[in-house]
Amino acid sequence: MLGTRGGWQALRRCASLPRAVRLRVSEALGARESGGEVKVQGWVRSVRSQKEVLFLHINDGSSLEHLQVVADPSLENRDLTFGSAVEVQGKLVKSPHRRQNMELQAETIRVVGPCDTWTFPLKLKERHPLEYVRQFPHLRCRSNTLASLLRIRSEATAAIHSFFQDNGYVHIHTPIITSNDCEGAGELFHIETSNEARESAEKTQFFNVPAFLTVSGQLHLEVMAGAFTHVFTFGPTFRAENSQSRRHLAEFYMVEAELSFTESLQDIMQVMEDLFKTATSTVLSKCPRDVELFHKYIAPAQKDRLEQILKHKFVTISYNEAVEILKQASQTFTFKPEWGCDLQTEHEKYLVKYCGEVPVFVINYPYDLKPFYMRDNEDGPQHTVAAVDLLVPGVGELCGGSLREERLPLLESRLQRLGITDTYQWYLDLRKYGSVPHGGFGMGFERYLQYILGVDNIKDVIPFPRFSHSCLL
Ligand code: 4AD
Ligand code: MG
Repeated sequence: MLGTRGGWQALRRCASLPRAVRLRVSEALGARESGGEVKVQGWVRSVRSQKEVLFLHINDGSSLEHLQVVADPSLENRDLTFGSAVEVQGKLVKSPHRRQNMELQAETIRVVGPCDTWTFPLKLKERHPLEYVRQFPHLRCRSNTLASLLRIRSEATAAIHSFFQDNGYVHIHTPIITSNDCEGAGELFHIETSNEARESAEKTQFFNVPAFLTVSGQLHLEVMAGAFTHVFTFGPTFRAENSQSRRHLAEFYMVEAELSFTESLQDIMQVMEDLFKTATSTVLSKCPRDVELFHKYIAPAQKDRLEQILKHKFVTISYNEAVEILKQASQTFTFKPEWGCDLQTEHEKYLVKYCGEVPVFVINYPYDLKPFYMRDNEDGPQHTVAAVDLLVPGVGELCGGSLREERLPLLESRLQRLGITDTYQWYLDLRKYGSVPHGGFGMGFERYLQYILGVDNIKDVIPFPRFSHSCLL
């Protein structure tokens, strides 16, 4: 009987069918007993030919571990090289080697797609650095590190969805094309029709209004928060900001949540912390081998740090305290810390170090620094809003959130001062009809992966790196 449910069912099918049962590499490796005739498809990761026996390792993306294939040397052929695609049929048996549970005794090996090893940029047995494989966005998923990353990314996506579903949140698909600039930071990609699609030379706008790629689904979530007390979205977001930095992308995924009937910023912070801890624990338990690869070769100290972080409560400081800490620092900063100024990367780094290299919530930022939707704390003379940023070691800002201004007069006067009242009539409506205190946050998914895995460059946690503008895959 095979260990996994899929494999077991597969072997049952096998009993009544004369043909070999197709197994994935992970199923073959997880089998508990020798089975019948099986077929495994994948790509060759190593070929070792000895006088008496031919050894192959094959991988199909289902696990970091490769399946060892043992064959008669007569099955070797010229096309059976590193990188080639193969279909192997034979018997799955217990492996005599300690490090491998099962191996496949091949009866036939068919090369489905040969691979020219001279020109193939990945080489047998080499541990290619991330910078090297980044040059081959179309081939790098065949390297161990990127394959592990993509499996982790897939598990983390599922873990985030489960966290919200388990806590009673409704998932909303917010639009990608929108007219709103939620953050008001002018980092929008403007959408126009192509020359061919234009009805006339003047008509560049498809919708008759300016349209942009979304920078955040928040305002759409706020609409939904008028009918559902807990909503979330998890989709692509776009920012026309310098994507050459090691923590900025032009296209990234953001997880966003909105909670109604919430008067305290602490409630929002608690969800951020719970989301981080639950998703991370799930990823660590669901793909331990893949995570271990990062913690062994890319960021050796990250495993212990992460374990500590999962056990302790995140630290909270106010923006005022943060500025005082920075002013008293012995270190000199390129940007002088002053009340009212944005926290720069160097400041975030210092604050995280000061707090012991742990995640730090910074709350209550200056009113003038933050977008129009944030709730006025009505304090003074240092006027603040109920905003929160979560800073983490090595990455900086991981999450941004706030209580939203639910009071119609305050929101109206703020929009008026900014001269955007007409654009946001619909948003004001939300405050006229059953308005409730509410708040939410957004977490950058790539920065999350960067942090838990200890990856330096954000381009190494996405499926397709845009390493140059001439290669928009
Ligand atoms: O802080 P931000 O701009 O917040 C918002 O957009 C809010 N409307 C979210 C909300 O409250 N629903 O972005 C949220 C997070 C940041 O903390 C950061 O992790 C990530 O999105 N982020 C980026 N990640 C990669 N590349 C970029 N260019 C990013 N810009 C923001
Ligand atoms: Mg932010």
